[in-house]
Amino acid sequence: MTTNPRKKPEELRSHRWYGVKDLRSFGHRSRTAQMGYHRSDYAGKPVIAIINTWSDINPCHSHFKQRVEEVKRGIWQAGGFPVEMPAISLSEPFQKPTTMLYRNLLAMECEELLRSYPADGCVLMGGCDKTTPALVMGAISMDLPTIFMPAGPMLRGDYRGEYLGSGSDTWKYWAELRAGNITEDDWQDVENGIARSPGHCMTMGTASTMTSAVEVLGLTLPGASSIPAPDSRHAQMATLTGKRIVDMVWEDIKPSDILTTQSFDNAVTACLGLGGSTNSIVHLIAMARRAGVALDLKRFDALARQTPVIANLRPSGKYLMEDFFYAGGLRAFLTQLGELIDFSQKTINGQTLGQNVEGAKVFNDDVIRPRSKPLVESDGLAVLTGNLAPGGAVIKPAAMEAHLRKHKGPAVVFKDYNDMNARIDAPDLAVTKDSVIVLQSAGPQGAPGMPEWGQLPIPQKLLKEGVRDMLRISDARMSGTSYGACVLHVTPESHVGGPFALVRDGDIIELDVEARSINMLVPAEEIARRQAAWQAPQPKFTRGFGVMYLKHIQQADTGCDFDFLETEKKAAAGEEPEIH
Ligand code: FES
Repeated sequence: MTTNPRKKPEELRSHRWYGVKDLRSFGHRSRTAQMGYHRSDYAGKPVIAIINTWSDINPCHSHFKQRVEEVKRGIWQAGGFPVEMPAISLSEPFQKPTTMLYRNLLAMECEELLRSYPADGCVLMGGCDKTTPALVMGAISMDLPTIFMPAGPMLRGDYRGEYLGSGSDTWKYWAELRAGNITEDDWQDVENGIARSPGHCMTMGTASTMTSAVEVLGLTLPGASSIPAPDSRHAQMATLTGKRIVDMVWEDIKPSDILTTQSFDNAVTACLGLGGSTNSIVHLIAMARRAGVALDLKRFDALARQTPVIANLRPSGKYLMEDFFYAGGLRAFLTQLGELIDFSQKTINGQTLGQNVEGAKVFNDDVIRPRSKPLVESDGLAVLTGNLAPGGAVIKPAAMEAHLRKHKGPAVVFKDYNDMNARIDAPDLAVTKDSVIVLQSAGPQGAPGMPEWGQLPIPQKLLKEGVRDMLRISDARMSGTSYGACVLHVTPESHVGGPFALVRDGDIIELDVEARSINMLVPAEEIARRQAAWQAPQPKFTRGFGVMYLKHIQQADTGCDFDFLETEKKAAAGEEPEIH
């Protein structure tokens, strides 16, 4: 990799705050002295912003209070000046209606923190689902030297000697409780044991998918995303990250030097090979568009057709992230994908992706399978289109019962989430295992925020009959830890008058995963009649951030970014105001 010529101290961005002799810089220096720093602590050194998404209400990041000290240690050692900048923590288990409502807010916050303060480079500390894409989106737009420090997965859950996986086993045992197969006491034991250490969800859910994707993009140090959060090697990685970012500032290695069409193809391929979350589609498209890379649903589908799922991880497979780490982690996994990955791509340590995986070995080939023995031959994800979703929809064939891949059945329609909750378990609900459950008003505008409601519940009376999977369709997303025959991200969403708003009880819906199609078998004249009668619902917010959100949020097929943020990075950097 050709590195840029080393910067001189007076070329640092922070020089405008600290290095010049004027009234403003007097204020900056005197106020830095107020915090107990001597001029020799920072003069002529790169200022490294550590964007930390620690919060008392984010269990996935509870170790960040300590980890940030380890990042700082590395920065000091390498001759930088660390400045911790807390940012909104999008805590998946707590934030309502959904963290997705706030992904772009964190992206904006990250970008504006970096723009408005004397940052020469940054370390992004995230991991819980939306924090990863949000921080990276903001940093791409600002385009300063950047390293992502992943939170790392929590340890395996434990339930009476069995391993529990975040999310996946919650849904599983919740269904068993509703079916009357386990007791409240059993359920309590699941609650106590499923999340027993700091770190993000340890299935191949959205968190693990996105941190892995960011490593493949080249924005972390090699191996960073697979290390369990409580492992001492995670602390070491934090320090190494702090050391590296200082050199990156002198070398002026920025996201725009790393991110290419090929690196995004690599990230998509890795997500597919991991059996990763459907959410990665929305996030990677948004990240790519920030980087000026034209990634779209068609590209996901094309890569899915050629990529086997070789990571045997829940929810598609058997194991958990701790097992993945012991089996060799992401570096070993990438070696197994062979020519499906472009190893010539650059990464933030100055090496290529290929150099970073050199010598990596698989220590358990049931966890990380060879391509000759995949978990699923291809189609980790599939993109569907048809008269129900002209702009596209997605499904995860690897995590559904195979007989549903080609299915036709009558719709049972719920007009919104409250309607579904009120009626789904009603004994007189006209539903059979062949029905297709439809949830409307769950998209970016409709819910709002496109929550993870897409693993629609199976009606209780069917659960009692032993049904564990059936075709379900919504314009929502689905937790990466979920599974089942769930068609998601229907675009355009029902709230904006897409054809999905026009489905009625009893309409026959046809899914054909092989043909990549999703249709309602309703005559075109009838669809047109319903369309003419459709009335736009009231907006869900009348004040605050929500109003801005509703005005600018885009649909799922283009990544749900705000229209005004989706500028090319160079244009964004050019908009940096003069700093006085
Ligand atoms: Fe934070 Fe799952 S709840 S990653």
